[in-house]
Amino acid sequence: MPTHSEHPDFWDSRYLADRTPWDLGGVPGALKRYLAAHPGRGERVLILGCGSGYEIVAFTQAGHEAYAIDFSRPAVARARHQAEAALAARIIEGDFFTHDFAPASFDFIYERTFLCALPVAWRARIVQRVATVAAGAGVRGCRSRGALASFNAAESYSKPEVACSASISSVKPPKVRPTA
Ligand SMILES: C[S@@+](CC[C@H](N)C(=O)[O-])C[C@H]1O[C@@H](n2cnc3c(N)ncnc32)[C@H](O)[C@@H]1O
Repeated sequence: MPTHSEHPDFWDSRYLADRTPWDLGGVPGALKRYLAAHPGRGERVLILGCGSGYEIVAFTQAGHEAYAIDFSRPAVARARHQAEAALAARIIEGDFFTHDFAPASFDFIYERTFLCALPVAWRARIVQRVATVAAGAGVRGCRSRGALASFNAAESYSKPEVACSASISSVKPPKVRPTA
């Protein structure tokens, strides 16, 4: 199997072989609780590296205008299959870093086990990209311990020891200030 996670074929082969140990088979409990407590008012959310795409349904049902992106074709096929037909067009097959999003297209970004799958050396790139597509917003992510966290991508990804940890736990969308 391919070993470089920055290439779609790494993920394609795993989805096709059904070797997806990260896949929860549904929406994380932390996200369910968060959405129950914070109903949406049409905020535009982009789900990064959506995989099977369970969350696009949950965000939509909770009142958000949800979109999802994944660069693995088999993952997108899974996501479109399990989502309502009306959502299929909002599940984008594309690379988060190069897809043609207009600046500030989203109010916030959601991720679960996407950012931590990227190379550590990409942190500045991640910060810059998040700040471009979701200007003024932050990232909300589900951590492995089950807490839903919002965190300032610039802060997190400029500190390797913080990234992908559960150390930032505010649910208030923070401002993203890209680092130089
Ligand atoms: C560990 S899986 C997580 C999938 C899903 N978020 C979940 O929790 O089940 C990481 C996902 O990110 C996708 N991915 C990795 N790099 C990407 C990129 N640059 N643009 C879009 N998707 C990407 C992969 O195809 C894969 O589906």
